[in-house]
Amino acid sequence: MRHLIDPMDLSVEEIDKILNLADDIIANPVKYQDACAHKKLATLFFEPSTRTRLSFEAAMMELGGNVLGFSSADSSSATKGESVSDTVKVVSCYADIIAMRHPKEGAPCLAAMKSDAPIINAGDGGHNHPTQTLTDLLTIRREKGRLDNLTIGCCGDLKFGRTVHSLIKAMSRYANIHFIMISPEELEIPEYLKQEVFEQGGLDYEQVRTIDEVIDRLDVLYMTRVQRERFFNEADYVRLKDTYILNMKKLKKAKKDLSILHPLPRVNEISVDVDNDPRACYFRQALNGKYVRMALILTMLGIDR
Ligand code: CP
Repeated sequence: MRHLIDPMDLSVEEIDKILNLADDIIANPVKYQDACAHKKLATLFFEPSTRTRLSFEAAMMELGGNVLGFSSADSSSATKGESVSDTVKVVSCYADIIAMRHPKEGAPCLAAMKSDAPIINAGDGGHNHPTQTLTDLLTIRREKGRLDNLTIGCCGDLKFGRTVHSLIKAMSRYANIHFIMISPEELEIPEYLKQEVFEQGGLDYEQVRTIDEVIDRLDVLYMTRVQRERFFNEADYVRLKDTYILNMKKLKKAKKDLSILHPLPRVNEISVDVDNDPRACYFRQALNGKYVRMALILTMLGIDR
């Protein structure tokens, strides 16, 4: 039984297969409409979510399967003191596959040790978000036609933003990727990732403080919100939250084929006037999330069409 806890749990070849399957699902949805008949997905969300939980549930429904679960710890027996391990052990008696989000880093890894069903990490604290990464890879590949030879700017809260952490790990395995990390000093990428991914992995990167100084060089701009829920004090959040606001004026110097991604939710960091620009990919990205999760569910359940 395989779990998906970290984006590096999947080889590049396995990722390619999942992305190819997602492309086929997009092109031929009818072929897959009952592929998961009589299968159940449990969504255990100990932390809020719109896209990840609902796209997982929509994915399973579009595959002809069923879903069960909870959308907050408050509506589960966690409020009575039940451990994550016990919760997952029990739910794995009821479901064939489990998608789990938890505010504590490592919780899905702990859950996987007890579970009798495959666990998919749907986001653990500021750590990893591997299914967002699959969504991002599918989006970049569909928009740019490739996953190599790219200059990618990651902008915003690079300290707490787990989507960026997972994305840089996954992209480190493709050729000729140059990362430009755009953040205030306090929200720089954590030291352990600089060491593990950039320095030990030999990945090319630079750190800058403004979008303006690099926008003309970017093939992909990955915007992120400042993660209010992970700050220790509100004053720091308020001071940093509007450091970056992407608008049409800032995009004047950008490439005509720039792809603007954002895992969403957005707060203020992308002005709504950007939404109608063809370079804004973030709503297409959210839709891709459903298709790539369909592909992942099929893959992890070993269902071949
Ligand atoms: N991108 C993402 O993880 O969104 P949600 O928090 O709404 O699931």
